[in-house]
Amino acid sequence: MKNYTQSPLPFQGQKRKFLSHVKQVLANSSDEAIYVDLFGGSGILSHTVKQLKPNAKVIYNDYDNFSKRLASVSQTNVLLDKIRLIIRGLVRDKVMPESYKLKILEIVKQEEFDVGYVDYITLSSSLLFSAKYVINYAELAKQTFYNNVRQSNYVTDDYLHGVDILRKDYRELFQQYKGLDNVVFLVDPPYLSTDCSTYGNDKYWKLKDYLNVLDVLVDTNYLYFTSNKSQIVELCEWMEGRTANGDVNPFKGSKTVCINTSLNHTAKYTDMMLYKLI
Ligand SMILES: C[S@@+](CC[C@H](N)C(=O)[O-])C[C@H]1O[C@@H](n2cnc3c(N)ncnc32)[C@H](O)[C@@H]1O
Repeated sequence: MKNYTQSPLPFQGQKRKFLSHVKQVLANSSDEAIYVDLFGGSGILSHTVKQLKPNAKVIYNDYDNFSKRLASVSQTNVLLDKIRLIIRGLVRDKVMPESYKLKILEIVKQEEFDVGYVDYITLSSSLLFSAKYVINYAELAKQTFYNNVRQSNYVTDDYLHGVDILRKDYRELFQQYKGLDNVVFLVDPPYLSTDCSTYGNDKYWKLKDYLNVLDVLVDTNYLYFTSNKSQIVELCEWMEGRTANGDVNPFKGSKTVCINTSLNHTAKYTDMMLYKLI
């Protein structure tokens, strides 16, 4: 079975940098456990756990319908082939002249008409400035196009083989599994105050949403992902110091793995994975 070290299709916020740490942390956990990926995103965490624990039940909550993008990959590859023909000879990573953009938009529109589906997120990663994503034609048409089209086709074979796929609000899924023995929750919510529109839902993830997620960390086995930008760990420690009962801090007794990331010379932050396996 092919081992993927990152999502086979572009996905913002995927936890590829944590995969080796996830494997280390779960190395000694049960092969018979149920692993519930509450915020599945690209599914790369579910894929990694299934590779490590082939006998375990791994549940991937595909809230964004990433599976649809996977299922459409050959169609996406054909569309990218057509785009490659149009932009042949253009310099890579540079802004495209308007005439090229218009030709590309024409075939994207035709594709939408003929097939009824276009993977705009993969297209964004091929045509827009880095980390800029759109999810529909109208938004795509407003953007400046760059030639970021990669040369090779996307391959997604067997990516989610053996993984159970479903699509629910994380709270509903948590209710289903919270009381069972031997369950490990993978908890990677949207970043605080992020616009979730590239995830296919048009809501902002606010402080209250972020805090509500902490409910799934009470008396459970978990791997929880955040960054120092959210300051959630600090907030929980502060609350712990203010109350007689330290249990108010769901991270009490957890361990932490940190990965430093720099966006440029000045913007640096730390991604974190906190875990507790009881
Ligand atoms: C940071 S991403 C997860 C990334 C994933 N761990 C990966 O490595 O690809 C957060 C995900 O939570 C999803 N999400 C947003 N609201 C949700 C909800 N109420 N229930 C479940 N998932 C939700 C988002 O759409 C997004 O896919």
